[in-house]
Amino acid sequence: MIALQKISYTIAALAVVSRVGASDNGLARTPQMGWDNWNAFGCSVSETLLQQTAELIVNYGLRDLGYHYVVLDDCWSVGRNASNNNSLAADPTKFPAGMKAAADNIHDLGLGFGMYSSAGKYTCGGYAGSLGYEEVDANTWANWGVDYLKYDNCYNEGQAGTQLISYNRYNVMSKALNATGRPILYSLCNWGEDYPFNWAPTIANSWRISGDIFDDWDQADARCPCDGDDAWDCRLPGFHCSVTNIMNKVSFIVSKSQPGAWNDLDMLEVGNGGMTDAEYVAHFSMWAAVKSPLILGNDLRIVPAADLSIISNAAVIAINQDPNGSSAARRWKYATNGTDANGRAEIQMWSGTLMSTTGGDYYDFVVLLINGNNVETVLNATLADIFVDFGAGGTADEVKIPWEVRDLWANRMSTTEAQAIISANGTAGYNGTNVQTRYNATQTSYAEGLAAADELLLGNVTTTIQPSGTVSATIAPHGAAIFRLRAMPTAATKKRDEL
Ligand code: GAL
Repeated sequence: MIALQKISYTIAALAVVSRVGASDNGLARTPQMGWDNWNAFGCSVSETLLQQTAELIVNYGLRDLGYHYVVLDDCWSVGRNASNNNSLAADPTKFPAGMKAAADNIHDLGLGFGMYSSAGKYTCGGYAGSLGYEEVDANTWANWGVDYLKYDNCYNEGQAGTQLISYNRYNVMSKALNATGRPILYSLCNWGEDYPFNWAPTIANSWRISGDIFDDWDQADARCPCDGDDAWDCRLPGFHCSVTNIMNKVSFIVSKSQPGAWNDLDMLEVGNGGMTDAEYVAHFSMWAAVKSPLILGNDLRIVPAADLSIISNAAVIAINQDPNGSSAARRWKYATNGTDANGRAEIQMWSGTLMSTTGGDYYDFVVLLINGNNVETVLNATLADIFVDFGAGGTADEVKIPWEVRDLWANRMSTTEAQAIISANGTAGYNGTNVQTRYNATQTSYAEGLAAADELLLGNVTTTIQPSGTVSATIAPHGAAIFRLRAMPTAATKKRDEL
Protein backbone atom coordinates (compact mmCIF):
# COMPACT_ATOMS: atom_id res chain seq x y z
CA MET A 1 0.00 0.00 0.00
CA ILE A 2 2.74 2.43 0.96
CA ALA A 3 4.48 1.54 -2.27
CA LEU A 4 1.32 2.35 -4.18
CA GLN A 5 1.05 5.70 -2.51
CA LYS A 6 4.63 6.47 -3.38
CA ILE A 7 3.97 5.64 -7.02
CA SER A 8 0.98 7.93 -7.14
CA TYR A 9 2.91 10.77 -5.48
CA THR A 10 5.60 10.35 -8.10
CA ILE A 11 3.00 10.55 -10.85
CA ALA A 12 1.53 13.66 -9.22
CA ALA A 13 4.96 15.24 -9.04
CA LEU A 14 5.56 14.51 -12.71
CA ALA A 15 2.20 16.02 -13.54
CA VAL A 16 3.16 19.22 -11.77
CA VAL A 17 6.48 19.40 -13.59
CA SER A 18 4.79 18.87 -16.95
CA ARG A 19 2.41 21.74 -16.25
CA VAL A 20 5.07 24.33 -15.55
CA GLY A 21 4.76 26.26 -18.77
CA ALA A 22 3.66 29.60 -20.08
CA SER A 23 0.06 28.52 -19.70
CA ASP A 24 0.07 27.32 -16.13
CA ASN A 25 -1.82 29.98 -14.20
CA GLY A 26 -1.86 28.09 -10.91
CA LEU A 27 -5.68 28.24 -10.71
CA ALA A 28 -8.31 25.55 -10.13
CA ARG A 29 -6.14 23.23 -8.07
CA THR A 30 -9.53 21.78 -7.14
CA PRO A 31 -12.48 22.03 -9.57
CA GLN A 32 -13.84 25.56 -9.82
CA MET A 33 -17.16 26.32 -8.16
CA GLY A 34 -19.60 29.10 -8.89
CA TRP A 35 -22.74 30.08 -10.79
CA ASP A 36 -23.47 30.80 -14.47
CA ASN A 37 -26.67 32.33 -15.79
CA TRP A 38 -27.06 30.30 -18.99
CA ASN A 39 -29.15 27.28 -17.92
CA ALA A 40 -31.82 29.36 -16.19
CA PHE A 41 -31.73 32.69 -18.02
CA GLY A 42 -30.19 32.23 -21.48
CA CYS A 43 -29.71 35.68 -22.99
CA SER A 44 -31.72 37.54 -20.33
CA VAL A 45 -28.69 38.99 -18.60
CA SER A 46 -28.26 42.26 -16.71
CA GLU A 47 -26.16 43.84 -14.01
CA THR A 48 -29.15 43.57 -11.70
CA LEU A 49 -29.29 39.81 -12.15
CA LEU A 50 -25.56 39.46 -11.43
CA GLN A 51 -25.79 41.68 -8.37
CA GLN A 52 -28.86 39.97 -6.94
CA THR A 53 -27.36 36.56 -7.51
CA ALA A 54 -24.02 37.50 -6.00
CA GLU A 55 -25.77 38.77 -2.87
CA LEU A 56 -27.79 35.56 -2.57
CA ILE A 57 -24.65 33.46 -2.98
CA VAL A 58 -23.31 35.25 0.09
CA ASN A 59 -26.56 35.37 2.08
CA TYR A 60 -27.38 31.70 1.53
CA GLY A 61 -23.92 30.63 2.67
CA LEU A 62 -22.96 29.38 -0.77
CA ARG A 63 -19.86 31.55 -1.02
CA ASP A 64 -18.60 30.02 2.20
CA LEU A 65 -19.25 26.55 0.85
CA GLY A 66 -16.86 27.39 -2.02
CA TYR A 67 -19.07 28.76 -4.82
CA HIS A 68 -16.76 31.55 -5.88
CA TYR A 69 -17.22 32.62 -9.50
CA VAL A 70 -20.26 34.54 -10.79
CA VAL A 71 -20.10 33.87 -14.53
CA LEU A 72 -21.85 36.05 -17.07
CA ASP A 73 -22.59 33.92 -20.14
CA ASP A 74 -23.49 34.90 -23.73
CA CYS A 75 -25.32 38.01 -25.02
CA TRP A 76 -23.69 40.78 -22.99
CA SER A 77 -22.07 42.94 -25.71
CA VAL A 78 -23.05 45.35 -28.47
CA GLY A 79 -20.02 44.51 -30.60
CA ARG A 80 -16.69 46.21 -31.21
CA ASN A 81 -15.87 49.84 -30.81
CA ALA A 82 -13.73 51.00 -33.75
CA SER A 83 -12.76 54.18 -31.97
CA ASN A 84 -11.49 52.24 -28.95
CA ASN A 85 -8.98 49.80 -30.43
CA ASN A 86 -11.80 47.53 -31.64
CA SER A 87 -12.48 46.43 -28.10
CA LEU A 88 -15.76 44.80 -27.10
CA ALA A 89 -18.35 47.11 -25.59
CA ALA A 90 -20.88 46.01 -22.98
CA ASP A 91 -24.57 46.49 -23.78
CA PRO A 92 -25.43 49.77 -22.02
CA THR A 93 -29.05 48.77 -21.54
CA LYS A 94 -28.18 45.53 -19.76
CA PHE A 95 -25.14 46.97 -17.98
CA PRO A 96 -25.76 50.69 -17.54
CA ALA A 97 -22.99 51.07 -14.93
CA GLY A 98 -20.54 49.20 -17.17
CA MET A 99 -18.71 45.94 -16.79
CA LYS A 100 -15.99 47.24 -14.49
CA ALA A 101 -18.62 48.30 -11.97
CA ALA A 102 -20.27 44.86 -12.21
CA ALA A 103 -16.90 43.26 -11.51
CA ASP A 104 -16.15 45.63 -8.61
CA ASN A 105 -19.46 44.86 -6.94
CA ILE A 106 -18.88 41.14 -7.24
CA HIS A 107 -15.37 41.50 -5.84
CA ASP A 108 -16.68 43.57 -2.93
CA LEU A 109 -18.72 40.53 -1.93
CA GLY A 110 -15.63 38.33 -1.88
CA LEU A 111 -16.52 36.60 -5.15
CA GLY A 112 -14.84 36.25 -8.57
CA PHE A 113 -16.23 37.55 -11.87
CA GLY A 114 -16.51 35.30 -14.94
CA MET A 115 -16.94 36.34 -18.55
CA TYR A 116 -17.94 34.53 -21.76
CA SER A 117 -16.80 34.69 -25.37
CA SER A 118 -16.29 32.36 -28.33
CA ALA A 119 -13.22 31.26 -30.28
CA GLY A 120 -15.14 32.12 -33.40
CA LYS A 121 -16.39 35.03 -35.47
CA TYR A 122 -19.58 35.14 -33.40
CA THR A 123 -20.66 33.75 -30.08
CA CYS A 124 -23.30 31.02 -30.11
CA GLY A 125 -25.93 33.71 -29.54
CA GLY A 126 -24.68 35.63 -32.59
CA TYR A 127 -22.74 38.36 -30.79
CA ALA A 128 -19.19 39.41 -31.68
CA GLY A 129 -16.70 36.60 -31.08
CA SER A 130 -13.03 36.81 -30.17
CA LEU A 131 -11.33 34.93 -33.03
CA GLY A 132 -8.61 37.27 -34.31
CA TYR A 133 -9.14 39.66 -31.39
CA GLU A 134 -7.72 37.54 -28.59
CA GLU A 135 -5.18 40.04 -27.32
CA VAL A 136 -7.43 43.07 -27.33
CA ASP A 137 -10.25 41.12 -25.65
CA ALA A 138 -8.02 39.56 -23.00
CA ASN A 139 -6.75 43.04 -22.13
CA THR A 140 -10.27 44.45 -21.97
CA TRP A 141 -11.34 41.70 -19.57
CA ALA A 142 -8.24 42.11 -17.42
CA ASN A 143 -8.93 45.86 -17.21
CA TRP A 144 -12.51 45.19 -16.14
CA GLY A 145 -11.30 42.83 -13.42
CA VAL A 146 -12.40 39.55 -14.94
CA ASP A 147 -11.22 36.41 -13.11
CA TYR A 148 -12.57 33.65 -15.35
CA LEU A 149 -13.21 33.12 -19.06
CA LYS A 150 -15.63 30.58 -20.50
CA TYR A 151 -14.57 30.27 -24.14
CA ASP A 152 -17.01 28.74 -26.62
CA ASN A 153 -16.72 27.14 -30.07
CA CYS A 154 -19.43 28.59 -32.32
CA TYR A 155 -18.71 30.10 -35.75
CA ASN A 156 -15.12 28.89 -35.66
CA GLU A 157 -14.71 29.32 -39.43
CA GLY A 158 -13.84 25.68 -39.91
CA GLN A 159 -10.84 25.85 -37.62
CA ALA A 160 -11.58 22.45 -36.12
CA GLY A 161 -11.37 18.85 -37.25
CA THR A 162 -7.97 17.91 -35.90
CA GLN A 163 -6.59 18.16 -32.40
CA LEU A 164 -3.81 20.49 -33.53
CA ILE A 165 -6.11 22.94 -35.30
CA SER A 166 -8.35 23.21 -32.26
CA TYR A 167 -5.38 23.37 -29.89
CA ASN A 168 -3.81 26.21 -31.85
CA ARG A 169 -7.03 28.20 -31.96
CA TYR A 170 -7.62 27.89 -28.21
CA ASN A 171 -3.96 28.38 -27.34
CA VAL A 172 -4.00 31.90 -28.77
CA MET A 173 -6.45 32.94 -26.07
CA SER A 174 -4.58 30.99 -23.41
CA LYS A 175 -1.44 32.96 -24.17
CA ALA A 176 -3.33 36.24 -24.38
CA LEU A 177 -4.91 35.68 -20.96
CA ASN A 178 -1.59 34.84 -19.37
CA ALA A 179 0.06 37.83 -21.02
CA THR A 180 -2.31 40.18 -19.19
CA GLY A 181 -0.59 39.27 -15.93
CA ARG A 182 -3.99 38.85 -14.26
CA PRO A 183 -4.78 35.30 -13.11
CA ILE A 184 -7.79 34.38 -15.25
CA LEU A 185 -9.21 30.88 -15.01
CA TYR A 186 -9.58 29.49 -18.54
CA SER A 187 -12.68 27.34 -19.01
CA LEU A 188 -12.65 25.90 -22.49
CA CYS A 189 -16.03 25.09 -24.04
CA ASN A 190 -15.66 23.23 -27.32
CA TRP A 191 -18.13 20.52 -26.25
CA GLY A 192 -15.54 17.72 -26.45
CA GLU A 193 -14.70 18.24 -30.14
CA ASP A 194 -11.24 17.07 -31.23
CA TYR A 195 -10.59 15.26 -27.93
CA PRO A 196 -9.77 18.32 -25.79
CA PHE A 197 -8.78 16.04 -22.90
CA ASN A 198 -5.63 15.28 -24.90
CA TRP A 199 -4.47 18.84 -25.51
CA ALA A 200 -6.37 21.21 -23.23
CA PRO A 201 -4.68 20.26 -19.92
CA THR A 202 -1.58 22.27 -20.80
CA ILE A 203 -3.44 25.41 -21.87
CA ALA A 204 -6.72 25.50 -19.91
CA ASN A 205 -8.15 24.80 -16.47
CA SER A 206 -11.14 22.82 -17.71
CA TRP A 207 -12.77 21.66 -20.93
CA ARG A 208 -16.36 20.70 -21.65
CA ILE A 209 -16.73 17.05 -22.66
CA SER A 210 -20.20 17.14 -24.26
CA GLY A 211 -22.88 19.20 -25.89
CA ASP A 212 -25.12 21.28 -23.65
CA ILE A 213 -26.75 19.65 -20.67
CA PHE A 214 -30.53 19.27 -20.58
CA ASP A 215 -32.52 19.24 -17.34
CA ASP A 216 -33.41 15.55 -17.63
CA TRP A 217 -32.22 12.22 -16.25
CA ASP A 218 -31.93 9.99 -19.34
CA GLN A 219 -34.17 11.25 -22.12
CA ALA A 220 -32.78 9.95 -25.42
CA ASP A 221 -32.51 12.81 -27.93
CA ALA A 222 -31.16 12.55 -31.47
CA ARG A 223 -29.68 16.01 -31.04
CA CYS A 224 -27.27 14.59 -28.45
CA PRO A 225 -25.83 11.47 -30.08
CA CYS A 226 -23.25 9.07 -28.62
CA ASP A 227 -24.52 7.29 -25.56
CA GLY A 228 -23.03 3.84 -25.90
CA ASP A 229 -19.69 2.14 -25.50
CA ASP A 230 -18.18 4.28 -28.26
CA ALA A 231 -19.31 7.59 -26.75
CA TRP A 232 -15.70 8.60 -26.23
CA ASP A 233 -15.39 9.07 -30.00
CA CYS A 234 -18.25 11.51 -30.39
CA ARG A 235 -17.79 13.66 -33.45
CA LEU A 236 -21.09 15.48 -33.07
CA PRO A 237 -21.47 16.87 -29.55
CA GLY A 238 -24.98 18.16 -30.20
CA PHE A 239 -27.04 19.49 -27.32
CA HIS A 240 -29.95 18.44 -25.09
CA CYS A 241 -27.70 15.93 -23.34
CA SER A 242 -29.20 14.18 -20.31
CA VAL A 243 -27.17 13.83 -17.12
CA THR A 244 -26.72 10.08 -17.62
CA ASN A 245 -25.57 10.64 -21.22
CA ILE A 246 -22.89 13.05 -20.00
CA MET A 247 -21.90 10.72 -17.16
CA ASN A 248 -21.40 7.95 -19.71
CA LYS A 249 -19.17 10.22 -21.80
CA VAL A 250 -16.88 11.02 -18.89
CA SER A 251 -16.52 7.36 -17.93
CA PHE A 252 -13.87 6.81 -20.62
CA ILE A 253 -11.70 9.80 -19.79
CA VAL A 254 -11.72 10.14 -16.00
CA SER A 255 -7.94 9.83 -15.83
CA LYS A 256 -7.52 13.03 -17.86
CA SER A 257 -8.54 15.20 -14.91
CA GLN A 258 -5.84 16.49 -12.63
CA PRO A 259 -5.30 19.46 -10.31
CA GLY A 260 -5.51 22.58 -12.45
CA ALA A 261 -7.18 20.82 -15.40
CA TRP A 262 -10.61 19.18 -15.23
CA ASN A 263 -13.20 17.40 -17.33
CA ASP A 264 -16.21 19.77 -17.31
CA LEU A 265 -19.58 17.98 -17.38
CA ASP A 266 -21.41 21.33 -17.88
CA MET A 267 -23.33 23.50 -15.47
CA LEU A 268 -25.61 21.97 -12.88
CA GLU A 269 -29.37 21.78 -13.40
CA VAL A 270 -30.24 21.37 -9.70
CA GLY A 271 -33.07 23.78 -8.96
CA ASN A 272 -34.36 24.18 -12.51
CA GLY A 273 -37.34 21.89 -11.97
CA GLY A 274 -36.93 19.22 -14.66
CA MET A 275 -35.85 16.37 -12.39
CA THR A 276 -37.04 14.72 -9.19
CA ASP A 277 -35.34 15.28 -5.87
CA ALA A 278 -33.65 11.87 -6.13
CA GLU A 279 -32.41 12.70 -9.63
CA TYR A 280 -30.96 16.02 -8.50
CA VAL A 281 -29.27 14.32 -5.54
CA ALA A 282 -27.75 11.82 -8.00
CA HIS A 283 -26.76 14.56 -10.48
CA PHE A 284 -24.94 16.53 -7.77
CA SER A 285 -23.27 13.38 -6.39
CA MET A 286 -22.08 12.30 -9.85
CA TRP A 287 -20.60 15.68 -10.79
CA ALA A 288 -18.85 15.79 -7.40
CA ALA A 289 -17.38 12.29 -7.68
CA VAL A 290 -15.83 12.81 -11.12
CA LYS A 291 -14.37 16.19 -10.17
CA SER A 292 -16.40 18.28 -12.57
CA PRO A 293 -16.49 22.00 -11.93
CA LEU A 294 -19.57 22.67 -9.78
CA ILE A 295 -21.19 25.63 -11.49
CA LEU A 296 -24.75 26.28 -10.36
CA GLY A 297 -27.14 26.94 -13.23
CA ASN A 298 -30.36 27.88 -11.44
CA ASP A 299 -32.28 31.01 -10.49
CA LEU A 300 -31.22 31.56 -6.90
CA ARG A 301 -33.95 34.16 -6.40
CA ILE A 302 -36.54 31.39 -6.44
CA VAL A 303 -34.48 28.39 -5.31
CA PRO A 304 -36.68 25.73 -3.68
CA ALA A 305 -35.54 24.82 -0.14
CA ALA A 306 -34.93 21.19 -1.11
CA ASP A 307 -32.55 22.26 -3.88
CA LEU A 308 -30.69 24.69 -1.63
CA SER A 309 -30.13 21.78 0.71
CA ILE A 310 -28.68 19.68 -2.14
CA ILE A 311 -26.18 22.28 -3.31
CA SER A 312 -25.23 22.99 0.32
CA ASN A 313 -24.06 19.47 1.16
CA ALA A 314 -20.49 20.04 2.33
CA ALA A 315 -19.78 16.32 2.72
CA VAL A 316 -20.43 15.82 -1.01
CA ILE A 317 -18.64 19.03 -2.00
CA ALA A 318 -15.64 17.76 0.01
CA ILE A 319 -15.44 14.80 -2.38
CA ASN A 320 -15.27 17.25 -5.29
CA GLN A 321 -12.76 19.52 -3.57
CA ASP A 322 -10.57 16.67 -2.31
CA PRO A 323 -6.90 17.77 -2.36
CA ASN A 324 -5.82 14.60 -4.21
CA GLY A 325 -7.87 15.66 -7.24
CA SER A 326 -8.45 12.12 -8.40
CA SER A 327 -11.68 11.35 -10.26
CA ALA A 328 -13.78 8.33 -9.38
CA ALA A 329 -13.89 5.70 -12.14
CA ARG A 330 -16.74 3.47 -13.24
CA ARG A 331 -16.14 -0.11 -12.09
CA TRP A 332 -19.28 -1.64 -13.53
CA LYS A 333 -22.48 -0.87 -15.38
CA TYR A 334 -25.22 -3.42 -15.92
CA ALA A 335 -28.31 -3.04 -18.07
CA THR A 336 -31.41 -4.06 -16.17
CA ASN A 337 -34.68 -5.23 -17.62
CA GLY A 338 -35.77 -2.02 -19.24
CA THR A 339 -37.68 -0.95 -16.16
CA ASP A 340 -37.07 2.69 -17.01
CA ALA A 341 -39.68 4.61 -19.02
CA ASN A 342 -37.13 5.17 -21.76
CA GLY A 343 -36.08 1.53 -21.75
CA ARG A 344 -32.57 2.64 -20.86
CA ALA A 345 -32.26 1.49 -17.27
CA GLU A 346 -28.92 0.47 -15.91
CA ILE A 347 -27.15 0.32 -12.59
CA GLN A 348 -23.62 1.53 -12.04
CA MET A 349 -20.86 1.58 -9.44
CA TRP A 350 -18.05 4.14 -9.38
CA SER A 351 -15.22 4.41 -6.86
CA GLY A 352 -12.02 6.35 -6.38
CA THR A 353 -9.31 7.51 -4.02
CA LEU A 354 -9.72 10.36 -1.57
CA MET A 355 -7.33 11.98 0.84
CA SER A 356 -6.93 9.93 4.01
CA THR A 357 -8.79 11.38 6.99
CA THR A 358 -7.68 8.62 9.32
CA GLY A 359 -3.98 9.40 9.41
CA GLY A 360 -3.25 5.80 8.50
CA ASP A 361 -1.69 4.14 5.51
CA TYR A 362 -4.87 3.89 3.51
CA TYR A 363 -6.62 6.40 1.34
CA ASP A 364 -10.25 7.13 2.09
CA PHE A 365 -12.44 5.98 -0.78
CA VAL A 366 -15.58 7.28 -2.44
CA VAL A 367 -18.22 4.81 -3.59
CA LEU A 368 -21.05 6.01 -5.83
CA LEU A 369 -23.96 3.71 -6.62
CA ILE A 370 -26.39 4.83 -9.34
CA ASN A 371 -29.85 3.36 -9.78
CA GLY A 372 -31.17 3.97 -13.31
CA ASN A 373 -34.27 1.86 -12.69
CA ASN A 374 -37.59 3.55 -12.15
CA VAL A 375 -38.19 1.37 -9.11
CA GLU A 376 -36.37 1.39 -5.78
CA THR A 377 -33.46 -1.01 -6.04
CA VAL A 378 -30.89 -2.51 -3.68
CA LEU A 379 -27.39 -2.12 -5.08
CA ASN A 380 -24.36 -4.01 -3.79
CA ALA A 381 -20.70 -3.21 -4.31
CA THR A 382 -18.04 -5.66 -3.18
CA LEU A 383 -14.74 -4.44 -1.74
CA ALA A 384 -13.09 -6.47 -4.49
CA ASP A 385 -14.77 -4.32 -7.14
CA ILE A 386 -14.36 -1.05 -5.23
CA PHE A 387 -10.59 -1.59 -4.89
CA VAL A 388 -9.95 -3.36 -8.18
CA ASP A 389 -7.29 -0.81 -9.18
CA PHE A 390 -5.11 -1.98 -6.28
CA GLY A 391 -5.32 -5.63 -7.26
CA ALA A 392 -7.67 -7.55 -9.52
CA GLY A 393 -9.88 -10.34 -8.26
CA GLY A 394 -9.97 -9.22 -4.63
CA THR A 395 -6.20 -9.38 -4.12
CA ALA A 396 -5.78 -5.76 -2.93
CA ASP A 397 -4.70 -5.21 0.68
CA GLU A 398 -7.71 -2.91 0.99
CA VAL A 399 -10.05 -5.87 0.57
CA LYS A 400 -8.51 -7.54 3.60
CA ILE A 401 -9.30 -4.87 6.19
CA PRO A 402 -12.57 -3.56 7.70
CA TRP A 403 -13.99 -0.19 6.62
CA GLU A 404 -16.23 2.41 8.18
CA VAL A 405 -18.98 3.36 5.71
CA ARG A 406 -20.28 6.92 5.87
CA ASP A 407 -23.38 8.00 4.02
CA LEU A 408 -22.73 11.46 2.58
CA TRP A 409 -26.42 12.34 2.32
CA ALA A 410 -27.36 11.20 5.83
CA ASN A 411 -26.71 14.66 7.26
CA ARG A 412 -28.46 16.52 4.45
CA MET A 413 -29.79 19.85 5.68
CA SER A 414 -33.52 19.59 6.36
CA THR A 415 -35.94 21.47 4.15
CA THR A 416 -36.97 23.43 7.25
CA GLU A 417 -33.42 24.62 7.81
CA ALA A 418 -33.00 25.48 4.15
CA GLN A 419 -36.28 27.39 4.18
CA ALA A 420 -35.13 29.30 7.27
CA ILE A 421 -32.03 30.42 5.39
CA ILE A 422 -34.11 31.50 2.40
CA SER A 423 -36.64 33.35 4.55
CA ALA A 424 -33.93 35.12 6.53
CA ASN A 425 -32.10 36.11 3.32
CA GLY A 426 -29.10 37.46 5.11
CA THR A 427 -30.83 39.08 8.04
CA ALA A 428 -30.36 36.16 10.46
CA GLY A 429 -27.42 34.63 8.73
CA TYR A 430 -27.07 31.23 7.20
CA ASN A 431 -25.38 29.95 10.31
CA GLY A 432 -28.04 31.31 12.63
CA THR A 433 -29.63 29.34 15.42
CA ASN A 434 -31.88 27.29 13.16
CA VAL A 435 -28.99 26.07 11.14
CA GLN A 436 -26.69 23.41 12.50
CA THR A 437 -25.09 21.92 9.47
CA ARG A 438 -23.10 24.63 7.70
CA TYR A 439 -19.48 24.30 6.74
CA ASN A 440 -17.48 27.47 6.22
CA ALA A 441 -14.71 26.86 3.69
CA THR A 442 -13.76 30.53 3.70
CA GLN A 443 -12.61 30.06 7.30
CA THR A 444 -11.33 26.51 6.98
CA SER A 445 -10.51 25.15 3.55
CA TYR A 446 -11.74 21.70 2.57
CA ALA A 447 -8.15 20.47 2.72
CA GLU A 448 -7.77 21.70 6.29
CA GLY A 449 -11.20 20.44 7.32
CA LEU A 450 -10.47 16.99 5.93
CA ALA A 451 -7.05 16.91 7.58
CA ALA A 452 -8.80 17.67 10.87
CA ALA A 453 -11.46 15.01 10.14
CA ASP A 454 -14.22 17.61 10.56
CA GLU A 455 -17.46 15.69 11.02
CA LEU A 456 -19.35 18.11 8.76
CA LEU A 457 -17.27 16.81 5.86
CA LEU A 458 -17.34 13.12 6.63
CA GLY A 459 -21.01 12.17 6.53
CA ASN A 460 -22.72 9.84 8.94
CA VAL A 461 -21.44 6.42 9.93
CA THR A 462 -24.06 3.98 8.77
CA THR A 463 -22.27 0.71 9.06
CA THR A 464 -18.95 -1.02 9.04
CA ILE A 465 -17.98 -3.70 6.63
CA GLN A 466 -15.70 -6.59 7.33
CA PRO A 467 -12.85 -7.79 5.10
CA SER A 468 -14.12 -9.02 1.71
CA GLY A 469 -17.49 -7.47 2.52
CA THR A 470 -20.08 -5.60 0.51
CA VAL A 471 -21.45 -2.06 0.59
CA SER A 472 -25.21 -2.14 0.14
CA ALA A 473 -27.74 0.61 -0.37
CA THR A 474 -31.44 0.82 -1.07
CA ILE A 475 -31.71 3.54 -3.67
CA ALA A 476 -34.68 5.56 -4.92
CA PRO A 477 -35.69 5.39 -8.60
CA HIS A 478 -33.16 7.37 -10.67
CA GLY A 479 -31.22 8.04 -7.52
CA ALA A 480 -27.75 7.55 -6.14
CA ALA A 481 -26.00 6.77 -2.91
CA ILE A 482 -22.56 8.13 -2.21
CA PHE A 483 -20.32 6.91 0.60
CA ARG A 484 -16.96 7.78 2.10
CA LEU A 485 -15.09 4.65 3.19
CA ARG A 486 -12.50 5.08 5.94
CA ALA A 487 -10.07 2.35 6.89
CA MET A 488 -10.63 0.99 10.39
CA PRO A 489 -7.67 0.31 12.64
CA THR A 490 -6.69 -3.34 12.57
CA ALA A 491 -4.68 -5.16 15.22
CA ALA A 492 -1.56 -4.62 13.13
CA THR A 493 -1.99 -0.87 12.59
CA LYS A 494 -3.08 -0.29 16.19
CA LYS A 495 0.04 -1.99 17.43
CA ARG A 496 2.21 0.15 15.18
CA ASP A 497 0.47 3.36 16.28
CA GLU A 498 1.18 2.51 19.90
CA LEU A 499 4.90 2.09 19.33
C1 GAL B 1 -23.17 27.00 -25.91
C2 GAL B 1 -22.53 26.61 -24.60
C3 GAL B 1 -23.52 26.96 -23.51
C4 GAL B 1 -23.81 28.44 -23.54
C5 GAL B 1 -24.29 28.87 -24.93
C6 GAL B 1 -24.39 30.38 -25.08
O1 GAL B 1 -22.33 26.67 -26.96
O2 GAL B 1 -22.21 25.26 -24.59
O3 GAL B 1 -23.03 26.55 -22.24
O4 GAL B 1 -22.63 29.15 -23.20
O5 GAL B 1 -23.41 28.40 -25.94
O6 GAL B 1 -24.85 30.77 -26.34
